[in-house]
Amino acid sequence: MKPARLIMTLFTAVTLSVPLASTASAAPETGGHHDTLRWAAPRGFHIGSAVAGGGHHETQPYPDPFTSDRPYRQVLGAEFSSVSPENQMKWEYIHPERDRYNFGMADAIVRFAKQNRQVVRGHTLLWHSQNPEWLEKGEFTKDELRAILREHIRTVVGRYAGRIQQWDVANEIFTDSGALRTTDNVWIRELGPGIIADAFRWAHQADPRAKLFFNDYNVESVNAKSDAYYALIKDLRAAGVPVHGFSVQGHLSLDYGFPGDLESNLKRFAGLGLQTAITEVDVRMTLQAGGVPTEAQLRQQADYYQRMLTACLNVSTCCSFTIWGFVDKYSWVPVFFQGQGAATVMWNDFTHKPAYDALRSTLAGRR
Ligand code: G3I
Repeated sequence: MKPARLIMTLFTAVTLSVPLASTASAAPETGGHHDTLRWAAPRGFHIGSAVAGGGHHETQPYPDPFTSDRPYRQVLGAEFSSVSPENQMKWEYIHPERDRYNFGMADAIVRFAKQNRQVVRGHTLLWHSQNPEWLEKGEFTKDELRAILREHIRTVVGRYAGRIQQWDVANEIFTDSGALRTTDNVWIRELGPGIIADAFRWAHQADPRAKLFFNDYNVESVNAKSDAYYALIKDLRAAGVPVHGFSVQGHLSLDYGFPGDLESNLKRFAGLGLQTAITEVDVRMTLQAGGVPTEAQLRQQADYYQRMLTACLNVSTCCSFTIWGFVDKYSWVPVFFQGQGAATVMWNDFTHKPAYDALRSTLAGRR
């Protein structure tokens, strides 16, 4: 190769692999990125996104976003200081057969995060959904099932020890009425509620530095479900179980009012000595024919995003705010809710909606 071309090749390789930022929550040093969310965020506050892949993406007419969409990756690296695998650390992906793990996608995300000076939220270890068939349909004794969960947690949490900031250890374990999911959650159904404490203990043994969370939807407000978490976590902590955080997902809809008591709800969990976080924010809306949101919808959406972020910023233990994807074309919403969508902060060409600007100016106001 000619020297000039070699230099160009090396230059390009370095440009493509160089970390995009210099500290976990600060902006890249290089020009052009000073207007990003992570740059606007106050020190120590993590602004995150889910990393699109797996799940509903596999049924859509595009290749895997994280590995294939280069502009997507650039925005993901430049804008955010935290990343959450959307599906890639769930049981059905990472543990597809009883004796086989598939770490490829999860490893790639953790590597990407390191290159871009991002922290990672691990998602998730004990859940009723997206479990592999071998697990849900297998006929195991109680002892076997317990051993399977312990081995999974030790293996997965242990593999990423020191590289995961927060783990959603237990996800969505209560119904909206505040009852434990004793029918559809295989772990609780077969092993009883005591397995929840065990999961936290095993995760803590495997990575003593990771902060261990309960995570759920419809717990933004003080209600039967969040009350159930409050009571459970209080008991677990009194018993010395290593529970460190409670997080609300933040999947909101313009068809419903804003949960105005979000801040006071987070504060009561902070009062238990817990970290708090908002982990899966998006704001969906019912779209008019043609599928384009109205100006009024966009304004109201921006307001919901801003109020969620403000609630978190107003709680001293809430240092992590993650959106469940940042661009509409990869959002789970239209796949799940017919006639609804436009739930993220960017248009499909990565230009910004009012919601993006609202997040950035709110963050910048707290620097
Ligand atoms: O398992 C079925 C499979 O049997 C079927 O053949 C296939 C074809 O439709 O669908 C498979 O289910 C898919 C599932 O992921 C498992 O891969 C669903 O269609 C697909 O919609 C689903 O999407 C994921 C969803 O979790 C599953 O609950 C989304 O990508 C993901 O964004 C979403 O994320 C969750 C968080 O983890 C927890 N909080 C709520 C949030 C939004 O639902």
